[in-house]
Amino acid sequence: MIRSKLPNVGTTIFTRMSQLAAQTGALNLSQGFPDFDAPPALLEAVSRHVSAGHNQYAPMTGLPVLREQVAAKIARLYGVQVDAEQEITITPGATEAIFCAIQAVIQPGDEVIVFDPCYDSYAPAVALAGGRCVHLQLSDGDFRIDWQAFSDALTPRTRLVVLNSPHNPSGALITREDLDQLAALIAGRDLYLLSDEVYEHLVYDGVQHASVLAHEALYARAFVVSSFGKTYHVTGWKTGYVIAPPALSAELRKVHQYVNFCGVTPLQWALADFMAEHPAHVEELPGFYQAKRDLFCDLLHTSRFRFTRAAGTYFQLVDYSAIRPDLDDVQMALWLTREHGVASIPVSVFYQQPIPAQRLVRLCFAKREETLRQAAEKLCAI
Ligand SMILES: Cc1ncc(COP(=O)(O)O)c(C=O)c1O
Repeated sequence: MIRSKLPNVGTTIFTRMSQLAAQTGALNLSQGFPDFDAPPALLEAVSRHVSAGHNQYAPMTGLPVLREQVAAKIARLYGVQVDAEQEITITPGATEAIFCAIQAVIQPGDEVIVFDPCYDSYAPAVALAGGRCVHLQLSDGDFRIDWQAFSDALTPRTRLVVLNSPHNPSGALITREDLDQLAALIAGRDLYLLSDEVYEHLVYDGVQHASVLAHEALYARAFVVSSFGKTYHVTGWKTGYVIAPPALSAELRKVHQYVNFCGVTPLQWALADFMAEHPAHVEELPGFYQAKRDLFCDLLHTSRFRFTRAAGTYFQLVDYSAIRPDLDDVQMALWLTREHGVASIPVSVFYQQPIPAQRLVRLCFAKREETLRQAAEKLCAI
């Protein structure tokens, strides 16, 4: 008998829904990835670097040219200087960065505060480190943090707080005021922050992303994680980075060098070239995705789904209580895929304790116009 270290973990809903979509021929708006390709110049850069022989191990912390590009972007967008040598680490995906940050600071018995609904990789990483997740719920409806509940949940064992903004699955944003509240509540406490900002460039309606990088007091104790996969339409490249003050970066790197050692070399070269040659890409991204969100939401206007437009990310939550209130969201996602040809993700899977009355599924709008039109047509016909 194997004594599992993760007895409650099975195949994730993302894999299951994508498989079901493939089996049934449904449009796949479940898992979060684009159905369009990356900019041609980025793809060409990979071929160029592979042909040029950039195929051996990269430095453990990432290629210096790529770290310099990340530092330049952060200075430009958030007005802060981070040291590319000591504070930026390139990782094989944001997922590896999250895992390493948690292993670096969590000791057996430590508590980690996460806000449900939350991304599924945090809790297993905490469990493997011997820690315990304390799940607080974001408000039902607008997905905001209840700072009183947060304050009440702090104990001498609290070692880490995990934030995610823009937020998967809700698209909600944490504000600068939220960050100030958090800073005041944790001042003088011995705890760290993991800020998952993989959707940092997907913020709409002219709003500025409130990055922990730009909050001096919080950054002093933070790991800030991002993903080239989300930003450059290359989720399959699994390439991301983590920014943390030197002492925290040093601890994270101790773990990272034995989990994966380094990211994929030619991809790092290609990203560095593309960032240098097309710095405007990140500034254009909000407009690019906002147009998709608006097209999709405008088309869904005549459907029986109810929704508030996502403030960020490439996910749109829709409430189906006017259609099939009798189905829970997992049943609804299966029904939508099998009977109506659109795959989605049920929101309850992001909760430790789902809200029984909630009737929400998540749809990914990182899709070509044609896909969004076809999906909306099917959803409006229900
Ligand atoms: C909130 C959140 N964090 C992290 C990740 C993982 O990013 P990566 O693919 O770079 O590992 C995702 C991907 O879906 C995500 O939604």
